[in-house]
Amino acid sequence: MLFLTLETTCDETAAAVISDELMVLGSAVASQDELHGVYGGVVPELASRAHVERMLPVIDEALRRAERTLADIDCVAVATTPGLAGSLLVGLSAAKALCVALERPLIAINHLQAHVYACRLAAGRDVFPCVGLVVSGGHTSLYRCRNAIDFELLGGTIDDAAGEAFDKVASMLGLPYPGGPAIQRASEGGNPRAIRFPRSFQHEHDRLDFSFSGLKTAVRYQIAGAGGNPAEVPTLSTQALADVAASFQEAVVDSLIGKSLDALRATGCQTLCVGGGVAANARLRTRLTETAAAEGFELWIAPPQLCTDNAVMGAIAVERWKAGLVEPLDVDILPGVQRAH
Ligand code: KG4
Ligand code: ZN
Repeated sequence: MLFLTLETTCDETAAAVISDELMVLGSAVASQDELHGVYGGVVPELASRAHVERMLPVIDEALRRAERTLADIDCVAVATTPGLAGSLLVGLSAAKALCVALERPLIAINHLQAHVYACRLAAGRDVFPCVGLVVSGGHTSLYRCRNAIDFELLGGTIDDAAGEAFDKVASMLGLPYPGGPAIQRASEGGNPRAIRFPRSFQHEHDRLDFSFSGLKTAVRYQIAGAGGNPAEVPTLSTQALADVAASFQEAVVDSLIGKSLDALRATGCQTLCVGGGVAANARLRTRLTETAAAEGFELWIAPPQLCTDNAVMGAIAVERWKAGLVEPLDVDILPGVQRAH
């Protein structure tokens, strides 16, 4: 049985052809980074228009790589939540049209759950039950994942997402968008202990939330220096820039790891699965690996190419299909984060 999975929640247009045995036959992703780069962040209206232009070519490319045609597809799946409303609508409309034309069932994918499921694909075996940490440009969420279709939201960011903080701090430092990879590069040779930036809720072990806006402000004042104007892009030496980037990155990594440990203790889970664009961060991956070895829990981090948005992680649709979770064709998008599914 073959699934066509579609992904248009934010600024990547993606499609994949996946078998019910979780074999990835073909995958294609069209990134919009260049389109939004000049604005320093995603412009929702531009993102939806770009999805409209790219959706069909991306589906064609995924089918071509899989050496299949639409007639071979048995089931169509699409991310319907959470994300930008206009972007989600493009993917859902395409999926519905295919379902009507091909007379195939429709499966709805929760994009954040799919980010966790990327770990299941990397593991090549069951990873549930686990704590799922999703760190992306739009979300920073902790889940108790009882199995592939039963996710309970334990906590999340109360302001900026981790990736958003990377993007905004990069822009303050005059670095390009997306900010995560740029900060990672700038941090090389920097001292992660040079500046002690704040880590939110680190002593409130019962609170499984994150906050990154105070950290962002602390960086702004740090780079402005005494008497400087925080609104201006500063001129920093290469070493000073590396120290700010490394210290900021370390503060984000400490927050993410601290709350993941709190979530593992609160749930009694032995496994942590980490996905989303920020999970591509080299420092986070190293520190997580060290922490897992020291604390004795099992760790799965999505491979870098499955961290940023893609349709391969939409393989979670196979699990929903097996559980009989097929959607009616009038199913709608849900742009906001849901507490449980
Ligand atoms: O998951 P994703 O592709 O899109 C959303 O669903 O939001 O995540 C994009 C985010 C961006 O904020 C980007 O700066 C961040 O992931 N990112 C990184 C790295 N690569 C991408 N953040 C830190 N380090 C990286 N290497
Ligand atoms: Zn994402």
